Amino acid sequence: MSEVNKGPLAGQRALVTGANSGIGAAVARGLAMAGAKVVINYVVNEPDAIKLVNEIEKSGGQAMALYADVSNESDVQSMFSGMIEAWGSIDILVNNAGIQRDAPFVDMTLSQWNKVMEVNLTGQFLCTREAAREFARRGVVPELSCAAGKVVCMSSVHEVIPWAGHVNYAASKGGVMMFMQSVAQELAHLKIRVNGIAPGAIRTPINRNAWETPEAEASLLKLIPYERIGEPADIAKATVWLASDQSDYVTGATLFIDGGMTLYPGFREGG
Ligand code: BGC
Repeated sequence: MSEVNKGPLAGQRALVTGANSGIGAAVARGLAMAGAKVVINYVVNEPDAIKLVNEIEKSGGQAMALYADVSNESDVQSMFSGMIEAWGSIDILVNNAGIQRDAPFVDMTLSQWNKVMEVNLTGQFLCTREAAREFARRGVVPELSCAAGKVVCMSSVHEVIPWAGHVNYAASKGGVMMFMQSVAQELAHLKIRVNGIAPGAIRTPINRNAWETPEAEASLLKLIPYERIGEPADIAKATVWLASDQSDYVTGATLFIDGGMTLYPGFREGG
């Protein structure tokens, strides 16, 4: 048996949305190395999704790429039926797909507002609903996990930190927090666990302008007491834990993985 087949998620089937780049790609790798078969969902850049599938397979894992715009109900339903047809069911959903469409508030267009809400919040609704239907239908499979299913909702420190110039994004993440907690409350009796991860500044394409020059990086680091920018792998490790039975009594929780960004760093000297 390879290492992958002995991992904490051995035999489980996971779907990661927006898995062809950034945090999603790292999470998909992490779940695969922990033994899960992983659906790499993508909406653009199919070649990157295929590349990741090949990379995971080369390391002894199993993966497949499936297209869906997470904000489109019929796309999401076809993706879930494709996965269930191929692998029988689903055990883990990671709602990772997310976008920014930044603008000063007074200039923000309705389409910038709607697009961010549709992907970041409606997308989590549509995917979680499909996963929950399947978890509830199938119930607990004790050989695989104590839970009937696990959902990890990728949020942001901006579920609690207001963010000027990014009102649509912060509002969507505040929504993700209350969405995650309410679904967790409603589905816990079915042995379905729903948790959130709130990453801080993680080095990915979404915030490239915040770290790519030395000046930008220095000003970003002032917001991070731990004095380093996060790496996608920091998020992947926590996702594996939240998806595994190691966290079996954890539901409705948000894990902040932010190097202390939410600790009001200005108060180290001020106040
Ligand atoms: C945003 C990044 C930002 C980080 C910290 C994330 O949710 O997507 O652009 O750097 O929060 O502010």
